[in-house]
Amino acid sequence: MSADIRPFRWEGTQLELLDQRRLPSEEVWIPCRSPEEVAEAIRNMTVRGAPAIGIAGAFGLVLAARRQPTDLEEAATLLRSTRPTAVNLSWALDRLLERARRGGGYPELEAEAVRIAREDEEQNRRMGEHGQSLVPQGATVLTHCNAGALATGGYGTALGVIRAAWEHAKQVRVLADETRPLLQGARLTAWELARLGIPVTVIPDSAAGRFMRAGQVDLVVVGADRIAANGDVANKIGTYSVAVLAREHGIPFYVAAPLSTVDLATPSGEAIVVEERDPGEVTSVAGTATTPPGVPAANFAFDVTPHHLVTGIITEAGVIRPPYERNLRLTFTT
Ligand code: MRU
Repeated sequence: MSADIRPFRWEGTQLELLDQRRLPSEEVWIPCRSPEEVAEAIRNMTVRGAPAIGIAGAFGLVLAARRQPTDLEEAATLLRSTRPTAVNLSWALDRLLERARRGGGYPELEAEAVRIAREDEEQNRRMGEHGQSLVPQGATVLTHCNAGALATGGYGTALGVIRAAWEHAKQVRVLADETRPLLQGARLTAWELARLGIPVTVIPDSAAGRFMRAGQVDLVVVGADRIAANGDVANKIGTYSVAVLAREHGIPFYVAAPLSTVDLATPSGEAIVVEERDPGEVTSVAGTATTPPGVPAANFAFDVTPHHLVTGIITEAGVIRPPYERNLRLTFTT
């Protein structure tokens, strides 16, 4: 695989997904031939990251449209139920259902899913251009989880900003939080950046404060799974702690996300459903138990960062600043 990283391949009759659970050790592609197989791949995190699961879900519906008899609504309900927090999944499914309601059959739905994927990559590149202007020459950027090409239609959101800065000849350096419990930062962000030749150092999640206090972080850029109408941001668990630390140390905290991640129907973060996953993801590492038997663990996949901690939201339409309630709405109406 070249530096041109994409988490999926559409092969006309099947969706192939790069199994992100096995990175960085192995690059294995999993074929999905039905909406049920796509749903399972989203649920078990073969594919993950808000825009990428939206794209996978869209192709899941395309696969449903291929078979007879077709019940698109039922397939959409199944796909929608896989992961509740990322709004991009529902957004992409609704876009395909709408196309079907306007008389679209299999070819039209396939074209729409391909368009969603292509648009996402284009939006990421535009977002990168807007965002890179916020990255000083020689900056150290801290990021959390993986908001790179692997999580999108290509290029990446938070990592797209970093990539764009690098492409503008800025000598950036990245601190990647390892991102417990599933280690998206250590496994995926480090893998992507190493491929791109961008200097990256993986740090334990608990080390972010130490680096900030030592003056070794210039800005934070993270992705998002859902941005409420008031600018509250749901993202990978641990993002909120990073935002609080950034505020304490006077470090700008940016969120990079396409407008498909903004959910004006959700008034604030309190209304965002946060996925709870199997506690086993917390109580073991690579199949080895790390806690005593019978001790419970909590496994919230996401947390919500209140809007007052967010310096700016980088989108394909530009950088949105507070007051978010007003400025997010304006972005959709102008
Ligand atoms: O549980 P994951 O790995 O799907 O969580 C992913 C994140 O939290 C990302 O930061 C977010 O989806 C944005 S990806 C461009």
